[in-house]
Amino acid sequence: MLKRIMQTAGVVVLLVAVAGCSSPKQSGNAQSAKEKYLANARTIATGFQKELSSVLKKHLLAGGPAEAIAVCADTAQELTRAFGESRGATIRRVTSKPRNPADAPDDFEKAILEEFADLKQEGRLTAKSEYFEIVEIDGKKIARYLKPLTVVPVCLKCHGQNLSPEVTSLLKERYPSDKAVGYKTGDLRGAISIMIDVE
Ligand code: HEC
Repeated sequence: MLKRIMQTAGVVVLLVAVAGCSSPKQSGNAQSAKEKYLANARTIATGFQKELSSVLKKHLLAGGPAEAIAVCADTAQELTRAFGESRGATIRRVTSKPRNPADAPDDFEKAILEEFADLKQEGRLTAKSEYFEIVEIDGKKIARYLKPLTVVPVCLKCHGQNLSPEVTSLLKERYPSDKAVGYKTGDLRGAISIMIDVE
């Protein structure tokens, strides 16, 4: 996996931590710093997912998919940006099949999304799957964390195989190059991607 990431993204890998396996060579300090960033990224990802899902549910209940699509289209990017900023992080939602072109992955994210897709295919993607690494880009250390997002039934209204005519036309209007349809429950939809500057 690492080799592939280095080739694809050209990043310098300083510390590597795939959850649950630690290198005995790392000093105690490096280890605890790494764990601190990992714990922080996990907390941010969980909080962000909760926040988005509560906004989605609220508007689906209040005005159905039409209202939820309008709200999502108008606010998802800003909500994501602001949620990250208030926690000292950069958050993105990334996917190999973006609805909003702004959610296309960078090379690093693309490599990890491919790893998640491989795990999924092998039946090894679980609720605990995640990826964490501290990379160095232009002399700056950055903690990068990705958490897979899988499709649950509520997502099918707007990302599924049989969309209502209303949803189809609303999506066409807002997202003429939408690729984020045709999913089934359990599919890998994408990932939450978090970047935190390492002090
Ligand atoms: C009411 C319709 C609706 C529902 C339900 C919905 N989404 Fe979306 N989704 C959207 C819209 C609209 C966007 C584009 C938002 C934007 O412009 O940033 C989007 C974007 C995304 C993105 C960002 C990547 C991209 O394609 O641009 C992810 C990831 C995502 N949705 C996952 C999910 C998941 C997982 C669920 C179920 C928990 C879900 N969505 C349910 C409408 C919906």
